[in-house]
Amino acid sequence: MLTLLHIDASARGKGSHTRRLRRLFTERWRALRPQDEVIARDIGRHPPSAVTEAWVAAAFTKPDRRTPDMRMALAESDALVDELEGADVVVAGVPMYNFGMPSTMKAYIDNIVRVGRTFGFDRSRPDDPYLPLLSSGKRLVILSARGDYGYASGERMGHLNHVEPHLKSVFAFLGVTEAHSIAVEYDEFADDRLTRSLAEAEGLVERLVRKLTNGLDVCSPQSMSAPARATAR
Ligand SMILES: Cc1cc2nc3c(=O)[nH]c(=O)nc-3n(C[C@H](O)[C@H](O)[C@H](O)COP(=O)(O)O)c2cc1C
Repeated sequence: MLTLLHIDASARGKGSHTRRLRRLFTERWRALRPQDEVIARDIGRHPPSAVTEAWVAAAFTKPDRRTPDMRMALAESDALVDELEGADVVVAGVPMYNFGMPSTMKAYIDNIVRVGRTFGFDRSRPDDPYLPLLSSGKRLVILSARGDYGYASGERMGHLNHVEPHLKSVFAFLGVTEAHSIAVEYDEFADDRLTRSLAEAEGLVERLVRKLTNGLDVCSPQSMSAPARATAR
């Protein structure tokens, strides 16, 4: 059994393209691997707390020297890190806001990048002091959307896209080096190009789910008996 953690960062509910793509991803995944656990985190509706002075002081104090107040200041962050540690696949619906990720997603990132938990710092290695601490084999899927178009690398607005590059850098820093991304464009134009972009993105999501589940223990609910479903790994 694998664990799929899905994250929605759009402030919109109805009409959100990233939520739509993320839902499609989860539905297709569930259809192929009904035995997997799916965990939902809606940070668009329930944003993680921004880091505070107390948070920083606690995060950079060794665990055995933390006061009860410090442990409390890190409780939310610890829960988010525990959840991420348990995930095999992280699928994040992340719109572009002002050329970057929404502040809610940035708050999530600030909570999960934790010295001693998700990355290590070793002063005795001055040329390369940082170590990724997340277990290997995790995969990241970024499902994005933007109002304008041409944000892929090398395209007219590519140099202004700080969504996928930023997320991929952060997750790679923690040890998640396999990342995939799919995006919808033209939301502001709301014309045929948006319709085509959405259809293309949906097709890519379906293909990506097949690719990621390929070689895993793929089976459909219809093809499994109840006992097989209960014991499938
Ligand atoms: C606060 C805000 C900032 C935005 N900034 C940009 C931007 O910098 N570039 C862009 O192309 N679209 C921008 N957009 C458009 C969104 O990326 C687009 O509407 C996208 O579809 C939002 O994702 P969602 O459909 O999942 O809500 C912005 C939208 C909002 C609400």
